[in-house]
Amino acid sequence: MKQFFSVKDIPSLSLAAKSALESKQNPFADEALGKHKTIGLVFLNPSLRTRMSTQKAATNLGMNVMVMNMTSDGWALETKDGVVMDGNTAEHIKEAAAVMGEYCDILGLRSFPGLKDAAEDYSEDLFSKFSKYCGKPVVSLESATRHPLQSFTDLITIMEHSHYQFDQEKAQYIPQGKKPKVVLSWAPHVRALPQAVPNSFAEWMCKAQEEGLVDFVVTHPEGYALNEEFTNGATITTNQDEALVDADFVYVKNWSNYESYGQITCTDSSWMLTLDKLKPTNNAKVMHCLPVRRDLVISSEVLDSDHAIVIQEAGNRVWAAQAVLKEMLKNQ
Ligand code: CP
Repeated sequence: MKQFFSVKDIPSLSLAAKSALESKQNPFADEALGKHKTIGLVFLNPSLRTRMSTQKAATNLGMNVMVMNMTSDGWALETKDGVVMDGNTAEHIKEAAAVMGEYCDILGLRSFPGLKDAAEDYSEDLFSKFSKYCGKPVVSLESATRHPLQSFTDLITIMEHSHYQFDQEKAQYIPQGKKPKVVLSWAPHVRALPQAVPNSFAEWMCKAQEEGLVDFVVTHPEGYALNEEFTNGATITTNQDEALVDADFVYVKNWSNYESYGQITCTDSSWMLTLDKLKPTNNAKVMHCLPVRRDLVISSEVLDSDHAIVIQEAGNRVWAAQAVLKEMLKNQ
């Protein structure tokens, strides 16, 4: 694997999930794989889970880890081509990425979208430039439009909390009984947030649905449709109550409007997930990528109940990252 940017970089979800769950059972089985190899984790935005879990995954594989927080510790980066750098930026991504490539065997990059210009954000220009100029395999630690390590984690968390058996002949997981119904449910928020997590979750769940692993439903207020590139194959409804009927998993997430790009056009607090809303579900497990704002996005009573598996989900970030880094190291 030369790049981990989207679900398209994973040939089989079942085999990827199997690898991650094997690492969870035996974290140090591949500790020789990363010996004398270095990963650089480059952050242009804040992070708790991604930083710590990827660092732990790399350490489990025997790698050296360098973390670079560009906003506090690095030179202000210029990412546009052809500009006279007489403003606040001190170093062009062309040199910065190339230099990091000299020090590292694998690089990870986190960069959020500007949420001003959809075409610019959805071009993923920054991630592409970083990959090109560093010349090394790059893991997305969340880009403008996707958060694949989170979505891979979400898949294995759903699988762990459901009933699947691995069929050796078919080399894939088969649901035992009814496939779990997974619902992505929009929630209110006071800040305009990226579409990266819901885009990515939808992209992974649509593929999981194609592979016969889940049934996938998206629910959001009028006007909040995600870019359809990510939701192709999903059942989409603006009726949250209807969507939640018989749900086995409810994945709660706010996103800013894609059509009125980056805007907040709905503040309806009735979209917050509460215990009452969970009544028609199949005793659903509740997921969120975290961080989560209590009693705005999900009620405290839900987060503090047995429905919530957000901590287990965050714990699984290690195993998704470890499966990805294992594949990259095997190709080195
Ligand atoms: N879910 C997630 O990516 O968390 P951080 O932003 O803390 O890394």
